[in-house]
Amino acid sequence: MSNEESIAFIGLGAMGWCIAANLATAAAEGDVASPVTVWNRTSAKAERHAAAFGTRCARTLLDASRADVIITCLPTSAEVAAVVAELAPELKAGSLWIDCTSGDPNTTRETARVLERVGVMMVDSPVSGGPDGAKTGELTAMIGGDANRRAQPVISLFAKKKIVHCGPIGAGHAVKAMNNCLNAAHLIAGGEALIALAKWGVQPDIALAAINASSGRSLQTEVRLPGEVLSRKFNYGFKLGLMLKDVGVAVDGLLSSSNGSKDSIFPVVKRLLEKSSIDEGYDADYTRVVRTLELDAGIVLHETSAASTVS
Ligand SMILES: NC(=O)c1ccc[n+]([C@@H]2O[C@H](COP(=O)([O-])OP(=O)(O)OC[C@H]3O[C@@H](n4cnc5c(N)ncnc54)[C@H](OP(=O)(O)O)[C@@H]3O)[C@@H](O)[C@H]2O)c1
Repeated sequence: MSNEESIAFIGLGAMGWCIAANLATAAAEGDVASPVTVWNRTSAKAERHAAAFGTRCARTLLDASRADVIITCLPTSAEVAAVVAELAPELKAGSLWIDCTSGDPNTTRETARVLERVGVMMVDSPVSGGPDGAKTGELTAMIGGDANRRAQPVISLFAKKKIVHCGPIGAGHAVKAMNNCLNAAHLIAGGEALIALAKWGVQPDIALAAINASSGRSLQTEVRLPGEVLSRKFNYGFKLGLMLKDVGVAVDGLLSSSNGSKDSIFPVVKRLLEKSSIDEGYDADYTRVVRTLELDAGIVLHETSAASTVS
């Protein structure tokens, strides 16, 4: 894309707020056209973004339709499809739609067909790295779709860690759903291990000191369990309901159509996330799934002192 092409960004949540801020910085430096237009369902947030980063607050969703590049970062593919349906008649032929939502690959294929009918190319480009990675621009992007080459220069402005073209439209969403299955499975497995060890009499932080220098370690044992669970912060910034959505995409869409083994791990992960989102709520931090394990076990995992039994 050239630095003359205008950008509109739709969805200023935990991720979108920071991604759009990085695009605003790129606009200020002349890497993309200025200003970047932002739209958010709760319009006060878009006004705050404009005040903070010099973006242009769209008065209506239709204000975003004339941009050369439109980027969405919404909860699910259903919201993306709804926005596409509303904007499609107004879009400029030849424009590009980049969907940073962690979505459903099959819905994304249908949405891409809707856009194709009005001459708009689409790529799915879900990201990994959380709100901290979004803030620093150090995200990984998983791209699906033929417009990959055209999309990469703009995606590279907020995904400086890694960009992988995963395949045809929807492939990025498929890979992201499986990535999050692995993320949740590692977290749950780590929580389960620490609870069993605590009940046996080994303190969780002592156990992690050994595991994190051994073959059972993962990002979850090294960072998420100590940083969010043992600290009792539970504040990583990713909603439990959104994690459940991603694991649902993988289990109900990808696994069920792959004739996967009936002893598959991921359906169990999904059931635990479902239980936890009832116990803790859709908006709770996803790391609170370990709290559900703790409640079942009657134990609380602590940072430095011995794990205590729930009275
Ligand atoms: N948080 C993370 O760590 C993380 C990491 C990687 C990927 N993701 C993925 O990135 C996407 C966004 O996640 P997030 O954490 O930024 O979510 P979030 O904080 O819950 O923000 C959701 C955004 O979508 C908007 N929205 C919700 N329902 C809508 C609707 N019906 N129509 C239009 N806009 C709507 C919200 O607007 P309001 O402000 O009006 O509510 C908000 O701007 C999700 O697909 C998520 O799975 C998240």
